[in-house]
Amino acid sequence: MLSLLAPRAEALILFLFGSSILGFSGLLPHVKKYGLLWYLLYPYRAVKDHISAYRFLIDAPGIIQEGYDAAEGGYFVINDPDINYHVVADKKLMREIDHAPKDVLSLQAAAKAMLQPMYSMHRFDWPDVRGFDGTPLIRTVRSLLRNDLGFILPKTRVTNSAIIDDLFSKPGKQPHVTTVVRACISHINALAFFGEEFASNKEFMTAVEDFAFKTILISEAVRLLPGVIGRAVGRLMEAQFSAQHVIFNALLPVAQQRIDEQKLARSGHTVPEHRDVLQWVMEQSSRLRPWTADVTTPWTAERVVHELMALLFGAVHSMGMATTFAIRDICMHPEYVEPLRKEIEGPAYQAWEATGDGLPFLDSFLKESARINPLDNLSTRRKALRPFTLSNGVHVEVGDWLATPLMPMLRDAKHWADPLEFHGFRHVDPKTLASLENPDAFIHAQAASMHQPG
Ligand code: HEM
Repeated sequence: MLSLLAPRAEALILFLFGSSILGFSGLLPHVKKYGLLWYLLYPYRAVKDHISAYRFLIDAPGIIQEGYDAAEGGYFVINDPDINYHVVADKKLMREIDHAPKDVLSLQAAAKAMLQPMYSMHRFDWPDVRGFDGTPLIRTVRSLLRNDLGFILPKTRVTNSAIIDDLFSKPGKQPHVTTVVRACISHINALAFFGEEFASNKEFMTAVEDFAFKTILISEAVRLLPGVIGRAVGRLMEAQFSAQHVIFNALLPVAQQRIDEQKLARSGHTVPEHRDVLQWVMEQSSRLRPWTADVTTPWTAERVVHELMALLFGAVHSMGMATTFAIRDICMHPEYVEPLRKEIEGPAYQAWEATGDGLPFLDSFLKESARINPLDNLSTRRKALRPFTLSNGVHVEVGDWLATPLMPMLRDAKHWADPLEFHGFRHVDPKTLASLENPDAFIHAQAASMHQPG
């Protein structure tokens, strides 16, 4: 028995010795740089980093706040199980991140890792670099959709009112706020994105209401489970949750029809007029020129639909959460009901509905709700596609991420008076605030507004 074990024991010792030599040779440059103690403490540090990375899953806000406090508003690093975040809170550095070339620091690549569109958005393999084949989405959202608010908003008021009446007229328990918000926000977006026919299609709307939640569920599972298991579970969930496929399959023929109509219109035929995000994105993608994009081929129907799904997710998810928080805040601070109702029932509402501008009290209330309840702990996430160095010397390697500590900044007493208190009119300018019937009731908010950062 011993004679059988002995060669194995020798082999084991040899193996361990050989691997330590190999391991040591790999770490040798670091030992030279940081010293032998660095090497001896390496296993301890590796385990500690691992535990801290998994702690991030449970207590991300706490870890980010700790990092922010320790760095006194400067730079710090945090790890989640698969990402190294280099977090900067300095305004100048934030601007550097935002203005970095898109093929160096990429929001798209970061969003792709977070949302896993290969599993959650009908196998959309979106490009890491934005802009090489145009920015139809950005142009559409920033100008065309913005300019058309006067056309969309009156319709959304009428349909939201009908949706709410319908939900509350059903017998039994009253619907939960998230059900009401999800129905209204999905409808608003479907109307603006795809027009009235889609917005009144029951099967399509059920899928739209389900889509954002299932996107989060699938992407979190794929990200959190280890490599091959995560991908297998992702495929299973993709097959199981049909919302993404219902939306894609319903939109694809319509996108193709719009592309065909555009070709017909160019050859002089009369075609129907469409006024929605689908149409604008398709038109913008067919107007690419060599000075606006490296690749100027118009987007296929499939690409248009995929991009719209990504946009739809962003719009429904963020607006839904922000609206739910705002409703919760008005319930918790009923003193705002009267002045807000007065503003909405007054002439300012018509002006807002025609342009999307105005309603300073409601605007401030929503801003304050978003400040107190940020939708994420970090913001301005960018994945490095190439090495990048900030002006303060912080260097990130390919695959590292940069981000800004959104939540701690929004709760920093250096920037906000009473940062943890809700002051719904904090963001209203003093002159407008004075126009209230009882401005003294909100005077504290006026003081708070003077301390906010520019
Ligand atoms: C309360 C509502 C919303 C919130 C809080 C929100 C938040 C954000 C955030 C944090 C980003 C990333 C910015 C960055 O890292 O630089 C972003 C990007 C974006 N959002 Fe929203 N969003 C909202 C609503 C919408 C809606 C309704 C749309 C479209 C109709 C939209 C379209 C976009 C687009 C296209 C981008 C990418 C911009 C780029 O590539 O530069 N968002 N949004």
